[in-house]
Formats: sequence, structure tokens, C-alpha cells
Amino acid sequence: MLEVVDTIEALRGRVADHRRSTGSIGFVPTMGALHAGHASLIERARRKSGIVVVSIFVNPLQFDRADDLERYPRPLDADVELCRRLGVALVFAPSVAEMYPVKPEFLVQVGRLANHLCGKHRPGHFEGVATVVLKLFEIVRPDEAYFGEKDAQQLAVVRRMVTDFNVPVRIVGVPTVREPDGLAMSSRNVRLNAAERPLATSLYTALRKVAADVQAGATSAPAITGQEATLIPADERLRLEDLELVDPDDFQPVETVTDPVIAAGALWVGNTRLIDNVRCTPRARS
Ligand code: PAF
Repeated sequence: MLEVVDTIEALRGRVADHRRSTGSIGFVPTMGALHAGHASLIERARRKSGIVVVSIFVNPLQFDRADDLERYPRPLDADVELCRRLGVALVFAPSVAEMYPVKPEFLVQVGRLANHLCGKHRPGHFEGVATVVLKLFEIVRPDEAYFGEKDAQQLAVVRRMVTDFNVPVRIVGVPTVREPDGLAMSSRNVRLNAAERPLATSLYTALRKVAADVQAGATSAPAITGQEATLIPADERLRLEDLELVDPDDFQPVETVTDPVIAAGALWVGNTRLIDNVRCTPRARS
């Protein structure tokens, strides 16, 4: 039976009860507007953990633009219903006042992992993510926590944070779920209008071509990304913000590809910023 709680005290009490009866706690932190990508995180958690806790909290600290925060979809009833169908035990849906009763004086400062890509274009974003994830880990005290590989930089930040702070939680990365045409599932996709939606797949097309170039033996990152950026159609509704090859652990840009890298990109489609990434493995040297 799913329970929905909105206070930290109630959540801690129910998690403690479950821990006594069912063992390990799997945790899926979300901002709601759940889709098939979230469902795959929950399903993975259900296979591994005794019970699954899902948090639904649109975290103001990680938004760099007020309009983005305001427009973020919040279909709580539908989210709770999906959690119920997927066998989630507990949904934690706190208010902003519950999570931040006063303006925080302490934030998690993220090092060079946040210097590029989303970290460069969204100042303070990863500090906000790291801070709320650390708070949620303190509140839920999960054994495992599940994050989507679509947000690869976020996953790298969270992995490094739990290492640096010795947080006793196992971080599990779950592969990106895509629409049939390849578009990565994202809560922001609902903002695309009918004319914008077909244009949105061009980022994944470019990323896959980057991966194919690397696999075929190309090694110059600027040459590869410069060439494949041209796959983004010249359309006034599209603006490619990033197309980079980065190291999978520290997210620093790579100049010459000799080891596996991540091709990561951000594309504005109208007023919606979409991100995606693919892993690229260089051809084995003989
Ligand atoms: O990926 C998200 O939905 C958010 O960044 C997270 C991890 C729930 C933190 O607010």
C-alpha cells in the first residue's frame, strides 16, 4: 500500500518501520512529472531493494531562471498514481517550506565537475542539486539511490559527492529511456509544441554520429563535434548550446580521444532546453 507523506518527521518514521520489516531502502529522487524514464528507475529499484521511496520535490535551489521554475510541470496526482501502479511504498512530497524553512546558510560547493556543460550555462545549478540530494539522503538514509544516465553530469556530481562526504549509499545509474524516434524522455518534453517536437531529435542524431566517428577511429574532439554540429538543422527555433566530448568521471573536455568518453549536448528547441548524451568507445588499437 502506497503512502504519501509531506513532512520529514513522518517520512523518517515510516522509513524506520519499513527498515525493521523489509530490509533495504531504495530511493528514487525526482522533481515529479514522472515519465517512462522515472518508471525504469523505480522498476530497477524494485528489483533490488526491499522497498522503494520516491521523492517528488521541485527544488528551487537548482533553477537559475525564475520562469523555468514557474513553468516546471507539477502533476502530483498523476505522479502518485503512477507510483502506486509501480509498487512504490512511500512517496515523499514535501513543500518548499518543509525542505527550506529558512534560507540555507550552507550549500554543497561543487568543484570542477560543474565547470562545463550544464554547470557553465546554469550557474548554481549543481550546487542546488548536490545540496538537495545530500539533504534527501540525510532524510531518507537509503541503501541505494537511482539516477538516470540521461543527466550524466548530475550522476557524476552525485557519485563524487557521496565519495567525498563518505555518504553510505550505493549510487546506481540507469540507462536513458527514449521515445521510438530516439528523443530522450524528459519532463521538459511536454513543453515542446507539435511543430517543435520533430526538431528535438536532431541532438540525438548528432550525438550518435559523434559516437560513430569515435568508433571509426576519429580522435580530434573539436573536429568531430564541429563536423557533427552541422547535423542540427538551420532553423530559427533551434540553438545548439553545447556539443562536447568529456571525460566520463570528471566531465572535463577531452581534446584527443584515446579512451571511452561521453558526447554530451544541450539544444534549445524554442523556449525549451533539452540535454542528452551518449557513451563513445574508440576503436580498439591493434
Ligand atoms: O534529476 C532530478 O530530477 C533532480 O535534479 C533531482 C536529482 C531530483 C534533485 O532535485
